[in-house]
Amino acid sequence: MRCIADTAPRPPFGAIPRDAPPATLREFRTRDIPEIVVIVSEALHERYDSSLYQSLSQQWPEGFLVAADESDRPVGFLLGVNQVEAEARVLMFAVEREHRQMGVGRRLMDEFMERCRNRGLKRVTLEVRVSNQTAIRFYSRFGYSVNDLLRGYYSDGENGYQMGREL
Ligand SMILES: CC(C)(COP(=O)(O)OP(=O)(O)OC[C@H]1O[C@@H](n2cnc3c(N)ncnc32)[C@H](O)[C@@H]1OP(=O)(O)O)[C@@H](O)C(=O)NCCC(=O)NCCS
Repeated sequence: MRCIADTAPRPPFGAIPRDAPPATLREFRTRDIPEIVVIVSEALHERYDSSLYQSLSQQWPEGFLVAADESDRPVGFLLGVNQVEAEARVLMFAVEREHRQMGVGRRLMDEFMERCRNRGLKRVTLEVRVSNQTAIRFYSRFGYSVNDLLRGYYSDGENGYQMGREL
């Protein structure tokens, strides 16, 4: 999976581009669900029942982060859970196409890992399709490394990698 702006010149990873549309990070709200459903469908090619987002947000509200535009419309999100002691898992992470490569994903991941540390968690794990080079590169930049090959992990039969990092 390649982003449409892959050929554009890139600033250093640490720099926030000056022309990036402002996005505010906040926690998930129930009214975000319709927009999140669209992002999940476009970016992750999945469709989950609205009740899933609601119930996961109740488990650890601080772990479900939304990046919202000036109208408070979600343009990206990171849904993390803490179901294993001392360990967070990134269940879903996506930024809508028009807002990619502007540092929104980096801000979501930075904030998420900070919240994990504040909660006393020691490790973060996630799964990614082996074909998703954009995401694998992104995670590698954040210090994640491949722990395991998950054969036939996805519903279409594609293999996944489990990646993780210590905090
Ligand atoms: C993975 C994903 C969430 C990253 O979000 P993002 O907002 O594009 O992330 P960032 O903008 O912070 O960083 C992405 C890249 O853009 C670069 N970048 C940041 N600002 C930039 C700018 N103004 N111009 C050009 N490049 C820029 C970063 O350096 C980074 O480079 P890299 O691809 O070489 O690592 C996004 O690509 C996505 O939604 N993909 C589809 C869904 C998906 O695969 N999710 C993960 C499933 S496991």
